[in-house]
Amino acid sequence: MMSVVMFTNLKGGVAKTTNAVAVAECLASRGHRTLMIDADHQCTASELLLGETEMLRADKHRRTLHDLLKEMLDPEFNSAQLPTFVIEKASNIGGGLETLSIIPCSIRIDEFQTNYAKGKGGFKTNDEFLKMFGRNKNRLKSWLTRSFDYVIIDCPPSMALQVQQLLAVTDAYIIPCQPNKLSYRGASWLRERIRRTGQKKVALGTLWSMVRGADRKHAEIIEAAKSKTGDFEFIPTGFKTQIPLTVSISHATEESENMQPSSFRTKYDPKFAKLYEELCDEIMQRLKELDEFKGEK
Ligand SMILES: Nc1ncnc2c1ncn2[C@@H]1O[C@H](COP(=O)(O)OP(=O)(O)OP(=O)(O)O)[C@@H](O)[C@H]1O
Ligand SMILES: [Mg+2]
Repeated sequence: MMSVVMFTNLKGGVAKTTNAVAVAECLASRGHRTLMIDADHQCTASELLLGETEMLRADKHRRTLHDLLKEMLDPEFNSAQLPTFVIEKASNIGGGLETLSIIPCSIRIDEFQTNYAKGKGGFKTNDEFLKMFGRNKNRLKSWLTRSFDYVIIDCPPSMALQVQQLLAVTDAYIIPCQPNKLSYRGASWLRERIRRTGQKKVALGTLWSMVRGADRKHAEIIEAAKSKTGDFEFIPTGFKTQIPLTVSISHATEESENMQPSSFRTKYDPKFAKLYEELCDEIMQRLKELDEFKGEK
């Protein structure tokens, strides 16, 4: 079984990237063949997992998600090209994790549509773009299925064109969310946007993030969300594991270029590494249930 899981929320700065990177590293540390796809023009996941120099080199050599999606617009697209967009041994853990790969992003993706509006076919609308891409999406999905156990997609805080394209190969999505109104509203808006695409995607869960331990308001919101009524009607069931607000986690990622941790446990501090391990257990369990459910249908 292979799963493609998107980390997304229309609210920015809720720790989508930090959590997506930690989950990918955690899965890879356990030996699962894991691919991170960075779908954000900010390229944060690429920089955190490759460092600035290698991230910029991929951009210069046109080996990024932007370039892959461009190739996929070509009717003659051949999936044998796909591995050339993958950088292996990503992360600073142990000088790079054997089982972690990444397709990095490029700032150019922010102008994807403008860059190709005057392309061969002269197609212009979002729908035309998505249709062109759609012709080759099964080739992408079957290559992902053959090559990896888990694919994690890190998104910008928007339904940018590349997010809509990748949604077509996504099985389920996780919504990182701070326990405050602006963030859970971003989660509600997101579900509505995904619903409007007409694609049936599973909301795997809400990942409560940057939770302030001593903040009663945070605890109240997380509790209230369980009711699934009112403001919380479209907020997916929370994972039991919550990620606290702590400098250890932000330093582990933001300072990654200056550090060479020997293992996942030492990178995140054993206490927070354990949290991510528990989160990965929950994610794998929910994906397994999803797979069994699909099997029954
Ligand atoms: N658990 C945490 N505790 C403290 N700081 C955190 C935690 N998680 C993330 N941060 C910090 O919060 C900031 C935003 O995190 P991050 O970049 O992961 O958010 P994002 O949702 O991906 O943002 P964007 O919408 O811009 O993509 C970063 O500076 C990050 O280091
Ligand atoms: Mg991000």
